[in-house]
Amino acid sequence: MHYYTPEGRAVLDATAGLWCANAGHNRDPIVEAIQSQAAEMDFAPPFQYGHPKAFAVSARIAALAPGDLDHVFLCNSGSEAGDTALKIALAYHATKGNATRTRLIGRERGYHGVGFGGISVGGISPNRKMFGSLLPGVDHLPHTYNREKQAFSKGEPEWGAERADALENLVALHDASTIAAVIVEPMAGSTGAIPAPQGYLKKLREICDKYGILLIFDEVITGFGRLGYAFAAERYGVVPDMITFAKGVTRCRWAACWCASTSTTPS
Ligand SMILES: Cc1ncc(COP(=O)(O)O)c(C=O)c1O
Repeated sequence: MHYYTPEGRAVLDATAGLWCANAGHNRDPIVEAIQSQAAEMDFAPPFQYGHPKAFAVSARIAALAPGDLDHVFLCNSGSEAGDTALKIALAYHATKGNATRTRLIGRERGYHGVGFGGISVGGISPNRKMFGSLLPGVDHLPHTYNREKQAFSKGEPEWGAERADALENLVALHDASTIAAVIVEPMAGSTGAIPAPQGYLKKLREICDKYGILLIFDEVITGFGRLGYAFAAERYGVVPDMITFAKGVTRCRWAACWCASTSTTPS
């Protein structure tokens, strides 16, 4: 649970390596697994090759995923997972003959990493302001925090589900035929831990279904048991079309991924 200064003073790692080292630092089984893999095969370019363990880990991840999500795409970080999921949403609509569906919807105060896609759909202004106009065709839902109405909430706040209705407004403004996907953190993290209001995520799901919009949950910091379930999707009883995840799944940050439902997304 600790880092050590050069003088040997223990420093409690209260953020678990910023959500990466959930199982603790330098655990023998994890160190041994990393060592044995490096000795067996250190690297093979995934563009041209497959490796049995990539399939094995994908199958284990798919088994944890909620609903019918059963495809896994391995990449290098939560940021890359976010950009990849957004790209897949565009490609999905293009392959279905809906190439006008290019608009991506994020949420104010959202954080989806440091790629251009993630920053564009993200909603933390200091992270955005130095990078110009970012991706075109992006819009944002309002965030769900209201101190006056939610102060002293126990568990999920009662107020706030109506904030999902703003998606109807964006559909009215842009037309559903131009919207590819909505991406949200089921429980916001980087902006401050903001749990979803009661019914909010279900409402988002319903509106996305109504208009053929893909719903992406960014579970980079909610996946792998952090809300008491394998994924927040299970905790909230809402199955998105894709989940991005990272942090805690490996010792390093090299296995951020997404899961896609066979029914609504490409294989
Ligand atoms: C919700 C969310 N998405 C994406 C990321 C980016 O992940 P990474 O730092 O692995 O690129 C983070 C990082 O904290 C995050 O909290």
